[in-house]
Amino acid sequence: MSYDPIALFRKRQSVRHFDPAFRLKEREILELLELAGWAPSSWNLQHWKFIVFSDPEAKAKLLPIAMNQRQIVDASITVAVLGDLEANLNARKVYEPAVKTGLKDGYAGYDSYTAMMQQIEQAYAVDLTAQYRRDEAIRNASLAAMQLMLAATAKGLDSGPMVGFDADAFVGAFNVPPRYIPVLLVAIGRAVRPARPTTRLPVEETVVWNGF
Ligand SMILES: Cc1cc2nc3c(=O)[nH]c(=O)nc-3n(C[C@H](O)[C@H](O)[C@H](O)COP(=O)(O)O)c2cc1C
Repeated sequence: MSYDPIALFRKRQSVRHFDPAFRLKEREILELLELAGWAPSSWNLQHWKFIVFSDPEAKAKLLPIAMNQRQIVDASITVAVLGDLEANLNARKVYEPAVKTGLKDGYAGYDSYTAMMQQIEQAYAVDLTAQYRRDEAIRNASLAAMQLMLAATAKGLDSGPMVGFDADAFVGAFNVPPRYIPVLLVAIGRAVRPARPTTRLPVEETVVWNGF
């Protein structure tokens, strides 16, 4: 069956009513998260961590923290997408395989591996609470969240993003280390009721050509 990839962008809509009987397999969940991980990120540092809520007890614990949004318990899974405030610590793990195989220079579009590592360290030579770390964590993790929703759509699944949750309570309830900040919850499963129809502003209203 041929599939129109352009249709994907209009097909993804925020579903709020999920079939509680529908369950994704672990293999399917990992496939979605692996696809989400192909999102772009600054220096390819992959500033995300996913907490998957699949067990009824964990979902029940999350429910009141997420304003009792029913999606949390009815969807097959809810993925908490976290942003990494210390993504610089991923640099070696990300680049070492390439360095070992001799692809050092020119790898990933950077002329010099050493210079790139220095750039990363300089950028992250700020306090853990610095705006830069937070911006980067949220910016890059949000791209992975978007990719996760599109991957779900491509697999014939439904999804719904949620920022309606108490981030501090979330961190406390699920022992999130200070390295990570919760960015977005994404419910994934099968809809029992279609998403509410939405509209978009005319594209011309959203565009400024060549600067304000
Ligand atoms: C960052 C973000 C937070 C959102 N939070 C919630 C939420 O907590 N609960 C909810 O029902 N929908 C939430 N939404 C869904 C939006 O209401 C929805 O994306 C918007 O109305 C457009 O509809 P569509 O996604 O179906 O195109 C959120 C969307 C985004 C991007």
